[in-house]
Formats: sequence, structure tokens, C-alpha cells
Amino acid sequence: MSAASRLRIEALSVAYGESAVVHGISLEARDGEFLTLLGPSGCGKSTILRTIAGLVEAASGAIYIGDRCVTNPAAGVRVPPEGRGLGMVFQSYAIWPHMTVRENVAYPLRVRHKPEREISAAVDDMLALVGLSDYAGRNATELSGGQQQRVAIARALVFSPKLLLLDEPLSNLDQKLRLEVGAELRKIQVRTNVAAIYVTHDQSEALALSDRIAVLREGKIEQIGTPEEIYERPATPFVSWFVGKANFVPCTVERIVDGASGRRVAVTAGQGRYAVSAAAAGEFAPGEPAMLMLRPEDFTVGDDEPGIPVSVREQQYVGERRQYTGDFAGTAVEFTTERAVTLAVGDAVALRVVGDRGIVFKSAAVAALK
Ligand SMILES: Nc1ncnc2c1ncn2[C@@H]1O[C@H](COP(=O)(O)OP(=O)(O)OP(=O)(O)O)[C@@H](O)[C@H]1O
Ligand SMILES: [Mg+2]
Repeated sequence: MSAASRLRIEALSVAYGESAVVHGISLEARDGEFLTLLGPSGCGKSTILRTIAGLVEAASGAIYIGDRCVTNPAAGVRVPPEGRGLGMVFQSYAIWPHMTVRENVAYPLRVRHKPEREISAAVDDMLALVGLSDYAGRNATELSGGQQQRVAIARALVFSPKLLLLDEPLSNLDQKLRLEVGAELRKIQVRTNVAAIYVTHDQSEALALSDRIAVLREGKIEQIGTPEEIYERPATPFVSWFVGKANFVPCTVERIVDGASGRRVAVTAGQGRYAVSAAAAGEFAPGEPAMLMLRPEDFTVGDDEPGIPVSVREQQYVGERRQYTGDFAGTAVEFTTERAVTLAVGDAVALRVVGDRGIVFKSAAVAALK
């Protein structure tokens, strides 16, 4: 199969009764792609996933799995969930407690009336893939949370679905296990080359696992991009604030620099002058007050060169680095340093910006975030 899209969603809207919760979203995922829907609680992530699965009806728009249209209310198309050939994994383990691990994983093949020999071989392969070969005969309830979720993943993949839907599959696991099972899930997904649509509200999970991330806000997509694009070139103040930590430092636009590398502006903040990327939306004018978005790790500390003057308000030692909060003319600025840099509360320092880090947003766009 070519790199044609495995899933295509066009202008999808979904409502529960009178209340519209998904507003005309469009996206695509290719075979083998790991695409994450990331956003705050209630933004519509599960609703989108359940609509793809056919468990929730769409109000308008269309969904294609491969070349096949499975949802299109205007054309009267609504393929039932069991006709969509999808693998699904949910937050609650949802494995059958009265069956053994082997029987749980075999179940999707049994309902498809596969021959016994084929079932046995496929289940053996799947159990080996998720590292549960030694647990085949165990009752499913006699497993840890991480093991149960691995059974759910094996069961979702055993019939070689072309599309795998996962709704917060790791959120019941503790932090360490979450990273472990997440990395394993990603390995399995790469090996089986299945397209995965993964729902989470955990930004570090999204950054670590995904090929691309769609950041959602109130039923709309704010930005779709690679983890690097989302974190380093957020399109909106919301994306910068939701994915990672964002400082918004008041600045003044000096001039517009239209380089070959795209839209850039020169700004001043405190005594510092910076040439930085301008947000995708909005025109900037010389003299305009704006907001410079900087991550805590975008600064270095020096008191000799012009920069953003802050007085240190708080300091925290977190092992691999130190975290500080400074005050810049009434604005709190969080910054991190190597642990060797020890500043005391009350110290006055100048923050310099690393390289060409930072993005300038319109003041009004940042104000709308609050
Ligand atoms: N069956 C339902 N009937 C009515 N409203 C619903 C139903 N399911 C969800 N909603 C509402 O639709 C909106 C989106 O819910 P959804 O479950 O898709 O959010 P989510 O992004 O998955 O959130 P979370 O991160 O908390 O799981 C919410 O306002 C929710 O209250
Ligand atoms: Mg949800």
C-alpha cells in the first residue's frame, strides 16, 4: 500500500442533542502514523474518537477509512462499529475477567470465525509481541494494570486492523509504568505499521510518542504538526501555554524583518533586543506593544550584558536543574538554569535569550487566553 491516507476526516461536526461539541475539524493519518489528539478535558477528544469508531453519530462532514466512506450524514452513510475493522483500546482495561489472557486475545478472531490453527498462531505472536507469553493461561484479573493494558493492546491488534484507536490507554498506570508501556506501545505500533489515533491530555506523553499532534481547543483544531513544530513553533498562545510552560514577556516591536526564513520581527524587551519569529496570525507594526513567548529553558543568566532585568522571587532545586521565578516590571518570568548557577531570592539579574528562541504574539491574542 502507498502512503495514501488511512484515515481522512473532512469538516466533521458532532453534537449531543442541542450542544455542538466538535466544530468542523479536518485531519488525515497515513499508514504507520502515530497521530495524537491533545487538549484539555472536555475539548472533544473522546467524542472525535468515538465518532471515528461509529459509536457516536456525526452531525455533518465525512470520515473515510482507507478509500471507504464510513460516515457521511448528508449521504446517509453510517457504517456500524463492527463493520469498520478498527482496533480499540480504552482507559479502563475492558478485558474480560472470566477469560484467560489467551482467550481474551483470541476473542476478536473467534467472532470472525477464523480457523483454530490460525487463531492459535496469531495469539502466540501477539502475546510474544507484548511480552506476555508466560501469562497466557492466567486469568485476566490476576494481572497488574500494565499487564492488563498490554492484553488490551494485543486484543486490539490481533486481527491486523488498519487503524488503531486509543483513548487515554495509559492514564490508569503510575508514572513510571506509563512511560514504559507507552514506549512499548509505540514499538509495537511501528512494527505492525498500523495507523494509530491516540487521545491524551498529557502533553509529555504526546510529545514523546507522536509522529504528529493535533492540539484541540473547544472542539476545534488549533494546530497540527510534529512534536518539534508544536513545542518550538506554536501557532497560537493557547498551544504554547497548553504544551509546555510559556512565559509571555511584554515587548515592543521595533521593525519587521522579512527574511527568507519567513516572518521575523525585531523586538525590545527590557534592555534586550531580539530578532524572533512572529506568530503565524496577525500583522505587526513598528512601535506596537506585543508579547514575546519564551520557554523557561530559553534563557541564560548574566548580569554583564543587556537583557531582560528580573529580580529573583523564588528558587527551587529539582535535581537536574534549578527553577526560578523572577519579576520583570510586574510580570512573573519562570526560567531554569544549570544546577551550578545559584541565585538567591532578591538577586537582580539580566536574562538573555538563547539563539533565536521566542515567538511574538499579538497582545490581544495573549489577553484572550486569560
Ligand atoms: N454522551 C454525552 N452526552 C452529552 N454530552 C456529552 C456526552 N459525552 C460527552 N459530552 C460532552 O461533550 C464535551 C466533550 O466531551 P469529550 O468526552 O469528547 O471530551 P474529552 O476531550 O475526551 O475530555 P476528557 O479529557 O475529560 O476525557 C464535554 O463538554 C462533555 O461534557
Ligand atoms: Mg475523553
